[in-house]
Amino acid sequence: MASRKIGLIGLGGHVPARVMTNDEWTQYVDTSDEWIRERTGIERRRIASDDESTADLAVAAARVALEDAGLAAIDLDEIIVATDTPEVYTPDTAAFVQHKLGAREIPAFDLGGSGCAGSVLALDIARHRAVGGHRKILVVGVELITRLMNWRDRNTAVLFGDGAGASIVGAGTSEILTAVAGTDGAQSGILGLESGGTRVPFTPEGAAEGLHKNLVMEGREVFRHATHRMSAAAAEVLAAAGVTIDDVDLVIPHQANIRIIEAVRKRLEVPEHKVFVNLQEYGNTGSASVPLALWEARKEGRVQSGSLVLLTAFGAGFHWAAMLVRI
Ligand code: ACO
Repeated sequence: MASRKIGLIGLGGHVPARVMTNDEWTQYVDTSDEWIRERTGIERRRIASDDESTADLAVAAARVALEDAGLAAIDLDEIIVATDTPEVYTPDTAAFVQHKLGAREIPAFDLGGSGCAGSVLALDIARHRAVGGHRKILVVGVELITRLMNWRDRNTAVLFGDGAGASIVGAGTSEILTAVAGTDGAQSGILGLESGGTRVPFTPEGAAEGLHKNLVMEGREVFRHATHRMSAAAAEVLAAAGVTIDDVDLVIPHQANIRIIEAVRKRLEVPEHKVFVNLQEYGNTGSASVPLALWEARKEGRVQSGSLVLLTAFGAGFHWAAMLVRI
């Protein structure tokens, strides 16, 4: 049987109801709305309520994507959840999502630790697992970062927000044309959580100090690598597909910092109106960022059936991934 085009046949997203403005951050750390806006472009973010968990956000986004695809949970053949802020450490968040959604006993697994590049990597894995278009795979990028971050660290806390974005990968009119990904493990020290694993296991003393919430981030180094890797990966997928940036209708970069996005935009020589930005509303939502932005871009009519969309992301690892998709 001939293989069919594999693309994104459903999109969804979900953010918690509670909005937290930059001004509210001044209650916790020495910062200002002006600093956060100027250095990052972020104006507000969403914060999950105490009774919401990672799987709840993921399931809410997944339901929207299923409805968009005209599918029920029992139609799914696989679930991949990209997250660095899982429901629990073991088992993976995908197991909770499978159960809460009411999906069949299908493979369900997480792609964890890939930081904000996770969801684009997961989409690439899903397209290969879709096996000639005969399977429908739910890919969710989700983070509930605000519960696991250090609210007293102004260098990192103000950057993040909670949310989820979901896509269904399968056969239809949409087509994933090309994807690239890479890892530079030499940079694993510039961004990440140092404790909680086998290297620095949890101890009562460490937990009391909040060590498990200490995100190490060399902001300027991350900035430099992010700019270089996101633009290089974007150029690579364009070349692999034999198209130019002029053929692209919308670029959806990982939403970490408006200045990183602007630097990537300039390197790619793409006009402002062709770059989607929603970080002013949500901050950096990690793995959720790209699928959430894609869903919003389509809701706003900036992505339509037939649009050529370029996704590009980077994250802790240091990982990067880019994908060219015809919606
Ligand atoms: N409010 C006020 N001042 C602050 C704050 C804050 N929230 N945070 C840091 N500062 C201070 C710093 O302490 C520093 O003070 P000092 O000069 O007295 O030491 C000063 O502001 C300037 O710091 P810089 O490092 O020069 O600020 P920069 O312009 O580089 O911006 C930022 C910092 C926003 C973190 C930037 O480097 C950046 O965006 N880097 C990339 C971050 C990123 O994308 N992280 C990824 C997260 S995870 C992921 O996406 C996979």
